[in-house]
Amino acid sequence: MKNHSSNNEIKKQISHIALIMDGNGRWASSRGLPRFKGHAQGLKTLRKLLRDLKDSKLEYLTLFTFSIDNWKRPKEETSKLMQLLRKFISNDLSELHSNNVRIRVIGSRREIPKDIVDLINGAELLTVNNTGLYLQIAFNYSGRQEIINATKKIAIASSKGEIDPNKINNTIFESNLYSAGVPDPDLIIRTGSEKRISNFLLWQLSYSEVYFEECLWPDFDKNKLDIAISDYKSRSRRFGNVLNEYR
Ligand code: FPP
Repeated sequence: MKNHSSNNEIKKQISHIALIMDGNGRWASSRGLPRFKGHAQGLKTLRKLLRDLKDSKLEYLTLFTFSIDNWKRPKEETSKLMQLLRKFISNDLSELHSNNVRIRVIGSRREIPKDIVDLINGAELLTVNNTGLYLQIAFNYSGRQEIINATKKIAIASSKGEIDPNKINNTIFESNLYSAGVPDPDLIIRTGSEKRISNFLLWQLSYSEVYFEECLWPDFDKNKLDIAISDYKSRSRRFGNVLNEYR
């Protein structure tokens, strides 16, 4: 075993975890239940996890709750997922706020019912000065669309002479993403045994460590999260650099 504690190894503190909460549908189907029951159970799992993280030092948590590609699903299921966000914000906002959680929803607001957009705006405004966990909820989100959207904003600013195209760099690009101001995830966890990224945080995951958890999302818990974090801490993050002992 190589000792990875070289001084050029980048810090392994964990500040930001992203979660793809996959497997709700299979959890329900395997019990003979309609798929939306799996999403409802998934919300219970999420609520419990957020409570268990109350005293954790984690600074940022990003959740994939609804992909733009999920509109391809039957209307009954997409309506239930809309309803679930309504329920989450209406029922959980005051508890999250009293736990000092800051909420930000990333994604397109265009296709979302107006009452949900109002709930999102209200939750973001209420919690904007909170300094505890920064909860970033990807809802009606697509990584490719986020990149196209940032490109359009930069192109428009360039055409107005506000940005010199030759000076476009990572910092300028990132400040035009939905997630502007939030550091990239250190770790991305996907439950449900599938091994793909599914159009999630395509820019931000460039150097994130990836962890695939076999269990279906409704069966996930803080203990499984701690196991994923321990695994992360055993890894060597190099961001394209090379360890001193291999130089
Ligand atoms: C993917 O599982 C999961 C989703 C599309 C929704 C995730 C939602 C939650 C965990 C509940 C919290 C939601 C909100 C809006 C606060 P899948 O349906 O693809 O499962 P499958 O792979 O087993 O079919």
